Amino acid sequence: MSFLRAVFIVFAFVICECAEKPHIVFIVADDLGWNDVGFRNPQMITPNLDRLAKAGVILNSSYVQPLCSPSRSCFMSGYFPYHTGLQDSGIPIDAAKFLPANLTTIPQKLKQLGYDAHMIGKWHLGFCNWKYTPTERGFDSYLGYYSGDEEYYSHMALNRNGTEGFDFHFNKTAFRDDNGIYSANEFTNRAVQIIEGHNNSKPLYLYLPFQSVHIPLEVPAKYENMYKNIENQNRRIYCGMATALDEAVGNITKALEDKGLMDNLLVVFTTDNGGPTFVAANNLPLRGAKNTLWEGGTKGTGFIYSKSLLKKTGYLNTGMMHAVDWYPTLVELAGGENTDPNMDGVSQYDMLINGGPSKRNEFVYNIYDEREAAAIRYGDLKLMQGSPGAHSGWAPLPHLGIDEGVYEADKQTFPPFMLYNITADPTEHFDLSAKYPDLLEMMKKRLENWKKSRVPPQDTTAVPAANPKYFGGVWSPGWC
Ligand SMILES: *[C@@H]1O[C@H](CO)[C@@H](O)[C@H](O)[C@H]1NC(C)=O
Ligand SMILES: *[C@@H]1O[C@H](CO)[C@@H](O)[C@H](O)[C@H]1NC(C)=O
Ligand SMILES: *[C@@H]1O[C@H](CO)[C@@H](O)[C@H](O)[C@H]1NC(C)=O
Ligand SMILES: *[C@@H]1O[C@H](CO)[C@@H](O)[C@H](O)[C@H]1NC(C)=O
Ligand SMILES: *[C@@H]1O[C@H](CO)[C@@H](O)[C@H](O)[C@H]1NC(C)=O
Ligand SMILES: *[C@@H]1O[C@H](CO)[C@@H](O)[C@H](O)[C@H]1NC(C)=O
Repeated sequence: MSFLRAVFIVFAFVICECAEKPHIVFIVADDLGWNDVGFRNPQMITPNLDRLAKAGVILNSSYVQPLCSPSRSCFMSGYFPYHTGLQDSGIPIDAAKFLPANLTTIPQKLKQLGYDAHMIGKWHLGFCNWKYTPTERGFDSYLGYYSGDEEYYSHMALNRNGTEGFDFHFNKTAFRDDNGIYSANEFTNRAVQIIEGHNNSKPLYLYLPFQSVHIPLEVPAKYENMYKNIENQNRRIYCGMATALDEAVGNITKALEDKGLMDNLLVVFTTDNGGPTFVAANNLPLRGAKNTLWEGGTKGTGFIYSKSLLKKTGYLNTGMMHAVDWYPTLVELAGGENTDPNMDGVSQYDMLINGGPSKRNEFVYNIYDEREAAAIRYGDLKLMQGSPGAHSGWAPLPHLGIDEGVYEADKQTFPPFMLYNITADPTEHFDLSAKYPDLLEMMKKRLENWKKSRVPPQDTTAVPAANPKYFGGVWSPGWC
């Protein structure tokens, strides 16, 4: 090495103690609907999300699973849930059901590439044994809850029989010291603490699956009061929850700026599934809701933002992607390589970072085992088999009582197979199955082909040994 070069390297190191690999902040909103962000719906007060989305890239065809655990398993593993046994319901708090232990999680992979990896928020990928929990699956630290939902202040979670327990851990210890602060604030405080304490010379991966805006509908009054114009109380609270989440994102991005991490960083923001219109969410103009195979259940609100990494910004990206694609995309961004030939995800680095075309022309919405139902996409076309799920209408924005929640389309019965052209008809008004019998047959064959690789669903039976009474009132690992 020449003397000058050596001097230069030492000098560069002194002035810029910074990581070459980009930092990654992956934010997940829980149950946020397509039409529940300000950049689509002027009713919503989400200035931080709007600013980041508009200065970044709005993802207009970014698909997720119809439910929480399945989508999270995609983010974490790059596998479709029907390949990991997680295709049916979410993971009940007392079921010995989990993301299979032989999958290398994204934090594990990023750690191999030199990252620090921290997680804050909702896990919902199983905890019956410590080996399935965040700090044993790649995260250096964890603050949050293992189950799917709980009370926002007290962190008490119920099982299906109404047995209650505390569900909040800091790393592997039950964490009771937070004086009942609202989870959006608590998670933000922890995120800011991690950011401030981070050594900038190391790349950071921060996985931030918020509790907001899942039920129970709870929010500090100041956020609800921002929506005095909305008559429907559930909608008012729900919108307030979205605004609290927005403020959290604002505080976290500010901390990233202040710390100097923002210059080489990718923010990903995505919902985990479509909005539950039967609670107070809204997916217009899309059809259906959370827990359905309609676009309203599966086409996720999302965007990416970066100050420096994106070649093209300020536009709507219509390229097709699926939640399983984040894993290989982030690995490529981190300078690594995905070496698992069975992974369902494909890297969308070129589409997201360069504004290139999507690497994907088809995907599986889901293949259920609990009922004879499935949906797949191939190009413009979507095939649906069986019942798409319980809420099949184009639910309007709630404005009066919640009882408006049942619509004509919800009571509809459906033929065994339906065919939609999503490009021409993104709101799923026109079933083409009778019009194009040849296309229907072609799509049915494709579905049969996808089905060949399905694995059996994991058991959701309640395990009595999970009862918190055996663990000092805490939902804890140790029963599988
Ligand atoms: C994980 O284990 C399952 C079941 O034994 C097996 O089918 C699958 O190939 C394994 N996956 C990986 C990535 O090792
Ligand atoms: C959790 O683990 C991280 C990383 O080891 C550590 O910095 C932090 O202090 C731990 N927190 C608690 C409350 O144990
Ligand atoms: C954001 O920061 C402000 C100012 O510190 C604070 O009042 C607010 O509670 C924070 N919001 C969240 C969601 O943590
Ligand atoms: C950050 O990490 C680098 C490389 O490991 C080390 O040289 C440096 O002292 C650390 N900085 C701080 C402030 O700890
Ligand atoms: C689906 O719609 C697109 C856009 O209108 C059109 O180009 C394509 O031909 C349609 N496909 C079928 C099978 O109708
Ligand atoms: C974005 O998605 C919405 C909802 O599916 C659709 O109505 C709209 O046409 C899409 N925009 C573009 C530019 O494709």
